[in-house]
Formats: sequence, structure tokens, C-alpha cells
Amino acid sequence: MNLKISSFAEYEQVYKQSVEQPEEFWAAIADNFQWKKKWDKVLDWNFTEPNVKWFDGAKLNITENCLDRHLDTLGDKPAIIWEPNDPNEDHRVLSYKQLHAKVCQFANVLKNNGVKKGDRICIYMPMLPELAIALLACARVGAIHSVVFGGFSAQSIADRINDATCSLVITADGGFRGAKDLPLKSVIDDALVQCQSVKRVIVLTRSRTPVAMIKGRDVWWEDEIKKVETQGNVDCPAEEMDAEDMMFILYTSGSTGKPKGVVHTCGGYMVYAGYTFANVFQYNPGEVYFCTADIGWITGHSYIVYGPLSQGATSLMFEGIPTYPDAGRFWDVVDKHKVNILYTAPTAIRSLMSFGDEPLKGKDLSSLTKLGSVGEPINEEAWHWYDEKIGKSNCPIVDTWWQTENGGILISPIAGVTPTKPGYATLPLPGVQPVLVDENGKEILGNGVSGNLCIKFPWPGIIRTTYGDHERCRQTYFATYPGMYFTGDGCLRDEDGYYRITGRVDDVLNVSGHRIGTAEVENAINMHATVVESAVVGYPHDIKGQGVYAFVVCPAKTDNEDLTRKDIMMTVQRIIGAIAKPDKIQFVSGLPKTRSGKIMRRILRKIAEGETSNLGDTSTLLDPGVVEEIKAGAL
Ligand code: WTA
Repeated sequence: MNLKISSFAEYEQVYKQSVEQPEEFWAAIADNFQWKKKWDKVLDWNFTEPNVKWFDGAKLNITENCLDRHLDTLGDKPAIIWEPNDPNEDHRVLSYKQLHAKVCQFANVLKNNGVKKGDRICIYMPMLPELAIALLACARVGAIHSVVFGGFSAQSIADRINDATCSLVITADGGFRGAKDLPLKSVIDDALVQCQSVKRVIVLTRSRTPVAMIKGRDVWWEDEIKKVETQGNVDCPAEEMDAEDMMFILYTSGSTGKPKGVVHTCGGYMVYAGYTFANVFQYNPGEVYFCTADIGWITGHSYIVYGPLSQGATSLMFEGIPTYPDAGRFWDVVDKHKVNILYTAPTAIRSLMSFGDEPLKGKDLSSLTKLGSVGEPINEEAWHWYDEKIGKSNCPIVDTWWQTENGGILISPIAGVTPTKPGYATLPLPGVQPVLVDENGKEILGNGVSGNLCIKFPWPGIIRTTYGDHERCRQTYFATYPGMYFTGDGCLRDEDGYYRITGRVDDVLNVSGHRIGTAEVENAINMHATVVESAVVGYPHDIKGQGVYAFVVCPAKTDNEDLTRKDIMMTVQRIIGAIAKPDKIQFVSGLPKTRSGKIMRRILRKIAEGETSNLGDTSTLLDPGVVEEIKAGAL
């Protein structure tokens, strides 16, 4: 079966088949990939334990699908185009042959450094081709990568390394993002003070900032490559992986506790990332595809590295940010590299929109044919701006809804094939069976309804477990509504049956497309010496989508509130990272609690949203007076 659907009628027919005969459907899709051995059974599943197995018994290596199988046909075609942070630095192009050679080389570096199949490897790197090479090299040798986004603190890295007992870290001396220098190696050094399992750190040269190379532990990427070259180790055979062998871990925030390690496995992930990439973006050979995400997040894993490369695409990787050196940078990149497909986030669109039309002047965007959005609900104003100013009303916009736990896109238009509708992710992709449920878990049928979004049947990219704690996986995703995967999102299905994701219904915030648990931020704030207690909620933010609003009980703040605020910010930055810093901190004498001690977040959310007129029933509160005080002091 062809991966790409070419008409709405075909979509309807394929969707129907995918629901009625899911195993036949996915087997036909999987036939488009290269397997060392085909599966014994397409699907085995239950959502109670949960236990989901796709393509069980099959053997493969995803890097053969992303690299080796393209060498004959696309060997000299660009696999990765890399655009640096500084527009005056040269860009780089790696053909499929070159990328293959570099992945093999670095895979041999990993082997020389003792890496074996199943080992966990933490990657903390800037957006360079070597980051993609590091991921692929891990996959080549069957090591499990755990990429940590460059905005996380030493403490967050240490937590992730320890949770997965990583034996090796791959990093760079430093990185460039906008006007900032990121001292990556130094952050890793701080993290490793707490990590006994790490025996080796491989450091790539990027910024040439002075770094402390620890004897016996730290080695330079470049030196290790030289060793491999002198050994004459040019090739590296791809490790044979079982379809259900663990492929990677990616940590993500939930409503409780510390971030959990979402686990994806080899076969299903490959099929799902590749299939959805080809289909949703309707990728045509030769097109230049630019996803602006960071590889530190799932979007970068699936739609910069694995999805596009598995389809022989040209994937553009950008080191910088949309507004550096000015707000025309994305459009310069599109113009310079004649980008055909642009996949970005609503927060970037809103931010660029706020600069007006000036940054667009003189930029030739005529190469663009398809646009995408991901990470958070896209408001209609941003949707129309994207459509008119960037797509010149001539490019379909795919509003792709999905999650780290999903491996790939679940609900989205198919570019140019199925209809779009501003603010709507529209229809489920083939193989995806969404349902809306009420609080009691009862399925809400029909159209023109809203509820909590669940998925009632597995797709190949579904989370398999949370690393080291399967019970947590069950609790978080499969226990709220028995027999279903619960997304944590609220959703509306309109009269036409189109889905619109309305945002999280749990205590998870989406700040500039980054998932942040309120409990995590509260724990970080509470680490500050003078803080007694805190409660964190989200509020609507023009650019970020949601901002972080913290109500903090801190009796010692008195003499200098601003200084205490800054201290608290610094604490959050230390414990989690800069991305979780509160936008607003309001000092309060107490939090609104029920007699049983539960914080009434509903009230705090309303106050943070500036909706103080109708707070609902406050009579059950232990101290209703505190609400008046909080209202009066709202920021
Ligand atoms: C939100 C990112 C509305 C949603 C791929 C989800 C979206 C969370 C969309 C997952 C969209 C993602 N429309 N909301 N198109 N895409 N979300 O794990 O709340 O970083 O649960 O994965 O982002 O975030 P994550």
C-alpha cells in the first residue's frame, strides 16, 4: 500500500479499512519499510496492563531505513541542510552518503567507548548535524538515547540520567542560541556530580568556550573520530533489533511527580514516524522540508530526524531562534534554502506576527507549498496570519495534534488532500480511533459535542512504558478511563465531526509549546529557603499561549519583594531550567483551601485569568477571607 493518500475519498476509504482491519492495514504500511526479518504477528495488545506489541518477531534497524536504503538512489542528495545561528557563518549540507559515513564513524566511536546494545546514553547538545548523528549512531548500535533539551538545568539532567542509569553522555563545549551562549559542558559537569553511572563524556567542539576535561572520563568527539579513522573503521554494521526492543527514552512532564521517561520501541516507532511524515506533509522527492523544533523534544525526534530521513527527505535543521538577529530570520532561511514545507509552532507564529509586516519585506517565500503547526492550540488570528502572510493563501496548513507519548501525529489534516479549518486539527489519521468521554468515562457519541480526548485502539507509535516504572504508565494513561488511552487534553468535535483540541484538562501547562507540570514548578519554588507553600496555575499569554502564574506564601519577603521574586526565579531556573520560570509571582498570606486541605486551583486559575467576578462557591473554604486578599493583590 502506498503511504500517501491522494484524495479525500481515498482518505475515507483507507480510514474505514484501518479501523475495520487494523492488522491488514498496518502490515501493508509496514511493507514499505526495510526489515531484516518480517514480523510473526502484527499486533498484540491490551490496555489494562497495558501491553502493546507491534510487529512482534520482526528484526530491523531504523538507521538502515533512514540511511542505507537510500544510498543507491539518493546517495548524493542532501539529507540534512544545516543553517547556523549566526547568518554570517556558512551553512552545511550533508548528503545521504556523507551522513551515512558520519553515523557509521560515530557509531564506531561509541563502540570504542564501550557502548553496547541496550545501554542508555544521555545527549545534551545544541542543534547541530552532530546531534542528529549522535541519535542515529545510538540507534545504529542499539543503544537507547535519552535526549535532554538544552534549556534544562543541571539538576534536571541529573534526575534524568539517574532515572535511566545512563553510562555515557554526549555533549558539546557550548552552543549558540540567539544572542546567548549556552555553557553545555559546564552544566553537564554540575549534573555529573550527582551521577555515579556515567563513565564517559564525549564532548563536541562548537563554541570553544574553556571547559574542564576530566581525566579518564571526558574525551573530545574530534579525537575519537580520528582514532576511528586510523583504525580504518569506516563501516559499522547495523545492530539487529527486535521490533519491540527499546529504541529511545524521552522525558516529559505530567500532572504529578517528576518527569517520566516515555519509552518508544524500534519497529512501531519507525513505521509510525515515517508513515505520518510522508502522508501528512505529502512529501515529494526533492522538496526541502524545514521543521523549526528542537531535537530535544519529540517533534524533533520524529519530524527532523527519523520521519523525514526514513522517507529520503531533505531535512533542514536550524541552530538559532526566529528573532535573531531579527524577526525576519525564518523568512531569510526559507528564502535562502528555497524551503517547500515549513513546520513550526503557534508560539513562534504569534511572536513573529507581533513584529508586523516589516520583517517580511523583500523575502521571497514563493517556494513554500505546505505549512504545519504543532505543540499547542493555534488561535484563529495566528492561523490566518500564517495562512495569508506566509502561505499567501496558497498553502494548506496542517494543524497537527499529538504528544510525546504518541510517537507521531494522530489528528491532522493531510496537506492538500483533506480539508483544513482554522483552529482545528480536523480528522484522525488512518489507524487512529479518537473518542470523547465525559467525567464518568462514558463515551460521548455524535457531533457538536465536547469532552476529554481518549484513543480507544493502539497505533504503532504508542508509548510502551514509562522507563523503570510500568505502573506509572498504567496509572497516568490507562487507569482514568479503563480500556482507553487518556490524552490529558480536552476536545471539541464540531457538527462536521472535526476535532478541535482545547488544551490540557490536567495540571500540565503548555508554555511556548513546552510541557510543564505545575507540581514540578511548585516543588522547585518550595525549595527556596523562605517559601512556605505555593500554587502554580496557567493564564492566557499573548505570545506563549500560557504563562506561569505562581501564588507564593513567603512570610519573609517583606523588605524587598522584588529581590525575593528574583531569588525564587533563580531557584526554579536551578531546579528545572529557564523554561519553567514563572511569569508572575504574587505573594499571598495563604492559599484557598478546602477543610480537607486541598488547594482550590479553580479559584486561583480564575484570578490568574483576571476573571474575578464569578469565582463560584467559596463557602467550603477553610478561610474564605484569603480569596478577597488574593483578588485584591492580583497581578
Ligand atoms: C498540546 C508535542 C492543540 C496538547 C508534539 C498535547 C496541541 C501536548 C497540538 C503534547 C495541536 C500538541 N493543537 N494542542 N496541534 N499539538 N498540543 O508532548 O495539549 O510536547 O497534550 O508533544 O501539546 O505536548 P508534547
